Amino acid sequence: MNESSRFVVLGVSGGIAAYKAVDICRRLVDEGCHVAPILTSEATRFVGAITFSALASEPAQTELYDVKSRIPHTRLGQEADVIVIAPTTANVLAKIANGIADDLLTNTVLASRAPLILAPAMHTEMWENPAVKANIATLRSRGVIIVDPEYGRLAGGDRGAGRLATTERIVEAVLSQVSGRANDLEGRRIVVTAGGTKEAIDPVRFLSNRSSGKQGHAIANAAARRGALVTLVTAASSVDADEGVTVVSVETAAEMLDGVHRVAAEADVVIMAAAVADFRPANPQGHKIKRSEGVPSIMLEPTVDILASLVEHRRDGQVIVGFAAETDDALEHGRAKLASKGCDLLVVNDVSEPGVGFNHETNSVVILEAGQDDVSTGLASKYSVANVLLDRVMRRLAQ
Ligand SMILES: Cc1cc2nc3c(=O)[nH]c(=O)nc-3n(C[C@H](O)[C@H](O)[C@H](O)COP(=O)(O)O)c2cc1C
Repeated sequence: MNESSRFVVLGVSGGIAAYKAVDICRRLVDEGCHVAPILTSEATRFVGAITFSALASEPAQTELYDVKSRIPHTRLGQEADVIVIAPTTANVLAKIANGIADDLLTNTVLASRAPLILAPAMHTEMWENPAVKANIATLRSRGVIIVDPEYGRLAGGDRGAGRLATTERIVEAVLSQVSGRANDLEGRRIVVTAGGTKEAIDPVRFLSNRSSGKQGHAIANAAARRGALVTLVTAASSVDADEGVTVVSVETAAEMLDGVHRVAAEADVVIMAAAVADFRPANPQGHKIKRSEGVPSIMLEPTVDILASLVEHRRDGQVIVGFAAETDDALEHGRAKLASKGCDLLVVNDVSEPGVGFNHETNSVVILEAGQDDVSTGLASKYSVANVLLDRVMRRLAQ
């Protein structure tokens, strides 16, 4: 996929101008955006979801309670680089201004930190109604970008203010929000590791950790959308990588070491987001240990430090990124790890904080780099964190 980081959620609400959103959708796709349409149920009275599905980068969605998707009300908002709603009805304006979330579109808006662009369209009387004006003022004061409607012919032959802005103006507003990262990693070879490795005690039991692999997968997807050639070496049990990502599934630290080294020699960047076991059972049993055998003593032995071995075999100009999940004095431990491992960037998170790290949809990290200011993401979706990290990797590659 070459849509890079131009992940656009295109909201369509139920006004007569909904048919114009079809053209906006097509133009955004032509501009290289990954377009995910969401239609309100009223919008589907004016134009069919199937039309958007045929033109967009993924099927149009209309339902909040969609059994196929585990968390549809947050996924699109978290992944979006920008949300644009065109047309925006007076009704949707009012709901967003008041934080109402009673359908997929308004939930997506509420569950997103992406820039929001609204292109209102309605009859002049509605557009000039004090309630609508107050909602517009509230939304502008919160940083929402309003693409003002124009004067012209309206539904039913009336003329006045309230006609949807031109497709050009709306597409331009979207592109100006997302163009910074467009294809900036094109042709770069990036290896990302993800997930917690599993180390066998016997054929049915293993030692592992709480890593879900979500952050690593988000990095792989974000890098692929920015044009990189991505190999994801993952120990995560569920893999939701984009089509363009080459996935290598592994289970143990030893398999991960082998999998990473097979591809790292060719890579411009290696991002070690996986939670690799530091220790493994020294004598895994070939048969299931029975309760009747008594409580086993499990001797542990160290695994190979993959990050250190990558640094040792680093090729010229290669950028190596390490991760440190900590529970106390995270920054202090992170700085020590950056210095001792010799990687270029170290991503630290304090997994004891709410919403941070293992299995959450969100993360909050500090990116450390020797001689540079720390970059702190604050609590954000793992996809946003991925893009902030990739911005930093990009800067490092350019040095
Ligand atoms: C033929 C027709 C055209 C409409 N056009 C508009 C419009 O341009 N703008 C608007 O705000 N509402 C318009 N409405 C009213 C909306 O459809 C109505 O407020 C609806 O509840 C909006 O639902 P939604 O905001 O969830 O999409 C129109 C209604 C009809 C029947």
